Amino acid sequence: MILVRTIVELRSAIAGARGRGSPVSLVPTMGAFHEGHVSLMRRASEEGGLSVVSLFVNPAQFNDPSDLERYPRDEARDARLAEDAGADILFAPPVSQVYPPGFSSSVEVRGVSAPLEGAVRGVEHFRGVATVVTKLFNMVQPDVAFFGQKDAQQALLIRRLVRDLDMPVRVEVCPTVREGDGLAMSSRNVLLAPGDRERAPALYRALTAVERAVAGGVHHPDEALAAGTRVLTEAGIVPEYFAAVSTDTLAPVRRITGETLIAIAARFGAVRLIDNVLVRPAERRG
Ligand code: PAJ
Repeated sequence: MILVRTIVELRSAIAGARGRGSPVSLVPTMGAFHEGHVSLMRRASEEGGLSVVSLFVNPAQFNDPSDLERYPRDEARDARLAEDAGADILFAPPVSQVYPPGFSSSVEVRGVSAPLEGAVRGVEHFRGVATVVTKLFNMVQPDVAFFGQKDAQQALLIRRLVRDLDMPVRVEVCPTVREGDGLAMSSRNVLLAPGDRERAPALYRALTAVERAVAGGVHHPDEALAAGTRVLTEAGIVPEYFAAVSTDTLAPVRRITGETLIAIAARFGAVRLIDNVLVRPAERRG
C-alpha cells in the first residue's frame, strides 16, 4: 500500500491501473478505523483492480466545532489496518488540498438531506458530505464506491447525488457491522463514558423490538415504535429522533406495508450515536 497526500500524486498512482483497464474502487472515510470500515475495504479489495481508501476528516460536514476537535485520529494505526484489509492506496490529504484558499463551491442534494440528521445537524452537514464525496469522486474517478448502511441517510443521499449528476460510479451499500452486544460500530464509540457505553446497546435492542413487532403483524408505525420506546425508557434514553420512514424519500410512513427504515439518534453526554434497521412486514398468508 502506498500513502499519498496530494491530488497530483493520487492521479499518477491511479493512472497506471486505469491504463491497464483495471477497475478502480474507492472507500471514503474519516479514519479512526473499526471493523465497519474494514468490511468496506475488504469488499473493495475483493473487486480486484485498484482499491483506494480516502482518509479525510472533513471539516465542512461538522456542524459542531467541538465534535470536529474531539474526533478521534490515529493515522499510523489506520494505515496498518487499511493495508491489512487489502487497500492499495491510502489517500490522506491535508485540508489545504481539499479546500484551497478561495474554495467557494458546494453541492446540495435537496429532499433526502432535510429530515432526520439534516433536521438535527442543519443543512451544512449533508452539504459538506455531498461536496466532499463529489470532490473525492472527481479526484479518484472510481468505477465503484463503497458506503455503509450504518449511515442510511448518507447512503441514500449519495445514490441520489450520483443519479442526479450522472456520475459514472456504481454505489455499493454494505451491511452495518456491530459489536457483540449489538452496538453499531462507530468511530465515536471510544468517546463514550463507561456508563453510556453500557446503555448504548439499547439503541439496537429498541430497533430490533420494532423489527419484531412489525414481523409479528403490527402495521401502525406508532404502535411498532412504542415497542422500541419501552426499551429506550428502561435504559433511560430519550432519543433525538426515532422514526419509521420511507426508504425512498425518508418521509414518515403512515402504515408499514413494504420495506421501511427505522432510524434512531440519541445523545450520550457529548457523543451522538445513530443507528437504523430495515424492517418489512411478514408475508401475508394466502
Ligand atoms: P466515516 O464515518 O468514517 O464512515 C466511512 C464509511 O464507513 C461510511 O460509508 C460509513 O457508513 C461506513 N461505516 C461506519 N460505521 C459502519 C459500520 N458499523 N458498519 C458498516 N459501515 C460503517 O461517513 C463518513 O465517514 C463521511 O461522511 C464520508 C462519507 C467519508 C464523507 O466525509
